[in-house]
Amino acid sequence: MYVCICNAIREKDLRCAARRCRGSAEAIYGALGRTPQCRQCLDDAEDIIADELSSCDTGMAAAA
Ligand code: FES
Repeated sequence: MYVCICNAIREKDLRCAARRCRGSAEAIYGALGRTPQCRQCLDDAEDIIADELSSCDTGMAAAA
């Protein structure tokens, strides 16, 4: 599923980038070499990033 139509960013790519680069959706788009254009996707992108990071944190806690 595409999260950002303007930049053709898929949810799986956003989640992968969120694990490598912490920060806002704009920062993670930048890590992917993209820049928000219409910005309509940013709220959903932030939700996906938060979900991904919470699952990472949960996984790290379980591994400790
Ligand atoms: S849909 Fe992401 S910037 Fe337009």
